[in-house]
Amino acid sequence: MTAHETALADLDALEAAGLSAFLGAASAPAVEAARIEFLGQKQGRVKAAQERLKALEPAAKRAYGQRFNAVKGALEAACEAAKIRVERPASGPGGLDVTLPGTPRPRLGHRHPLSQTADELLDLFGRFGFAVARGPEVEDALHNFDALNIPLTHPARDPLDNFYLPGGTLLRSQTSTVQVRVMESQPPPVRVVAIGRVYRPDAVDATHSFMFHQVEGLMVDKGVTMADLKTVLRLFAESYLGEEVKIRFRPSFFPFTEPSVEVDMLWHGGDRWVEMGGAGMVDPNVFRAVGYDPEEVTGFAFGLGIERLCMRRHGLDDIRPLYHNDTRFLAQF
Ligand code: DAH
Repeated sequence: MTAHETALADLDALEAAGLSAFLGAASAPAVEAARIEFLGQKQGRVKAAQERLKALEPAAKRAYGQRFNAVKGALEAACEAAKIRVERPASGPGGLDVTLPGTPRPRLGHRHPLSQTADELLDLFGRFGFAVARGPEVEDALHNFDALNIPLTHPARDPLDNFYLPGGTLLRSQTSTVQVRVMESQPPPVRVVAIGRVYRPDAVDATHSFMFHQVEGLMVDKGVTMADLKTVLRLFAESYLGEEVKIRFRPSFFPFTEPSVEVDMLWHGGDRWVEMGGAGMVDPNVFRAVGYDPEEVTGFAFGLGIERLCMRRHGLDDIRPLYHNDTRFLAQF
């Protein structure tokens, strides 16, 4: 082997030794030690290999110089790569794989569509001057029936139509109970809305559930008339469902109102009236039951189904998904 050949072979060996030193360095001090050993300015092995150039014959210098530059470049690159590798915080046994998909952002939840509807209704009626009232879901017969002028013999009290509980209570079947609770606790005038769950043993289908929500309104003062009732409900319907909605009263009967009406609504583009609830002028017997003087004050009351309003607003034709809590459904609102 000529001196020239030996020098080239030494460059190969130097490259192999340097690469393995940088690859094997597992900490910043180890990388620094390898850097000094191979790339150190004064006594580094690369520097020494460079010095050898001078001793070579002119004809061999060119090939050696080229190979030397390649080896030096490779070791400098390996040194930089090793520095970056040991500085980075460890992330798992194999280090950071930037080609893996990122960690997904945690998904934020939001209010349930029925809660959103309830919030909006309270907000709307709030702007019409209605305060928020509340009542218990477990009620007694006095508030659910007697004070609402529903006598003991009335079919609405049938055990097949109510969830009676031990001890003479029941899960309230209507939010009209809250009317009684409010009037018992304060003198007129009254202007309140109540939103809440009601319970009836109905078979579940696309439009029925054993639990649903109602919004109840009550306004009592001197000289309140049916025209006030219709105005409030029309303004409400237009605000919640849009200017084009039409509203209609159909004569009906409820024990706690006289006269009583069913409230129907018709939407722009719709081809049939949809019943949204009941309403009427508060029956004098109800006033008497809570100690109001029916000669002094008059009042209107209404009760609408929240699910119906929510379904109408969002174009839903089945009530059941509103209770399943399937996030694929809920995420759409
Ligand atoms: N409580 C009735 C129901 O659940 C709805 C209703 C009708 C409420 C007339 C009222 C009313 O306040 O005045 O079917």
